[in-house]
Amino acid sequence: MHEHGLCRKLTADDAMQMHALEKLCFSLPWSLEQCRLSFMKPAFAAFGLFSAQHVLFAYLSLYHVADEMEILNLAVVPEKRRQGHGRFLLTTALQVGQKIGLQKVWLEVREHNSAARALYASCGFRVEGRRKKYYTDTGEDGLVLVWTTSS
Ligand SMILES: CC(C)(COP(=O)(O)OP(=O)(O)OC[C@H]1O[C@@H](n2cnc3c(N)ncnc32)[C@H](O)[C@@H]1OP(=O)(O)O)[C@@H](O)C(=O)NCCC(=O)NCCS
Repeated sequence: MHEHGLCRKLTADDAMQMHALEKLCFSLPWSLEQCRLSFMKPAFAAFGLFSAQHVLFAYLSLYHVADEMEILNLAVVPEKRRQGHGRFLLTTALQVGQKIGLQKVWLEVREHNSAARALYASCGFRVEGRRKKYYTDTGEDGLVLVWTTSS
């Protein structure tokens, strides 16, 4: 246990807690079924931070294919935000990616998600593309952000 709680890889047994976290953090959360099914995909991995009471309070999920990684979701429960947990999970994923020789990490973020965009920018991501009105609930554009080993 350290300042970011217990960090470990998530498994299908964590799907319920992952879904609960999704509901607290996203307007279009992954359903329990989506959470469960994601663990069956070979390219999928997720890492979470747990409190001393074994409650999941932050997680990052990704796809890893060949020398590329896509970050799917990054979420921290509202009461634990601005304590560096999001940055910890993201930089850990980038460091591991670098160690295993990944060339490129990409993700998609809502145009108006200023908190997430500030975090990604401070970690070296840059905007590479825009998906017009990608998000069905708000009609927001999705921005495609990219991080490369030379970032
Ligand atoms: C985005 C999110 C994961 C950030 O997690 P967090 O643990 O609060 O982030 P951190 O404390 O590590 O902050 C890291 C940096 O991000 C930026 N940041 C985080 N929250 C911010 C906010 N509300 N406003 C502006 N910048 C913010 C800052 O640059 C911050 O660095 P600083 O604290 O040194 O200024 C969290 O706000 C969240 O879960 N949001 C809802 C889900 C979501 O939108 N996920 C991203 C989907 S792509």
